[in-house]
Amino acid sequence: MGYSYIPLKMKAEVFRIKKACELTVSILDRLRLQIKPGVESRDIDLLCREMLFSAGGEAGLLGYKGFPSSLCISVNHVAAHGIPNDYKLVSGDILTMDLTAGLNGWFGDCAVTLGVGDISEEKGKLIAAAERATLAGIEAARAGGRMGDIGCAIQNASVESGYTVLKNFIGHGIGRKIHEEPAVLHCGEVGSGRPIVPGMVFTIEPILTPGADKVVLLKDGWSVITRDRMPCAQFEHTIAIFGDRTEILTRGT
Ligand code: MF3
Ligand code: CO
Ligand code: CO
Repeated sequence: MGYSYIPLKMKAEVFRIKKACELTVSILDRLRLQIKPGVESRDIDLLCREMLFSAGGEAGLLGYKGFPSSLCISVNHVAAHGIPNDYKLVSGDILTMDLTAGLNGWFGDCAVTLGVGDISEEKGKLIAAAERATLAGIEAARAGGRMGDIGCAIQNASVESGYTVLKNFIGHGIGRKIHEEPAVLHCGEVGSGRPIVPGMVFTIEPILTPGADKVVLLKDGWSVITRDRMPCAQFEHTIAIFGDRTEILTRGT
């Protein structure tokens, strides 16, 4: 029907991706302990590189299309692809850490949004809603369904919480490459889109904001901010589709 080719994974391959996902999560878990006021986001990048290196892992993002760091750190109104820099975190900030780690040639991808020090109730609600939206998408990702089921579930969960999903940012297949087919839209209609079949491994990673679905690319060529400077939150998981179940490979963070 004209769908592009998806490299479906055998169980042994999913197991390898899971190992990369476990490394990804363990690094994010250790990095989150370092998030406090006064820390520069590039310090987090340096720690991340050390952890990847000492675990024999690969920084999937470093050098990817020229990306200069081992992870993305997107603070407040930076929606995605923030480059770690000399910005000093202050209490009340929220930040998303997004890490793609490789192990033995396979990749895992996970992102989490955290608060720095004391955050406002509004930011706390945004973070909780973003996590719910991702989990709603995962819940809808079942063999026998369609990709549109996932987008619809995310959309519904976000609207229910009163937030907007940034539609230009999509999830993606993952495996030997950090971005593969299929494209995973964070909006859609139930029963539409390509069929969800066993062996698919892909990410779900909606970005939520209280403001408008309008973004601007900064001059650094990577950081994307909301035009209205409203904050963003994002949770990303890598999941594997089996005939009888769906597994979150990046569970734990
Ligand atoms: N980990 C990001 C994702 O979820 C990768 C962003 S590409 C980058 O797909 F180069 F900007 F980091
Ligand atoms: Co990611
Ligand atoms: Co991703």
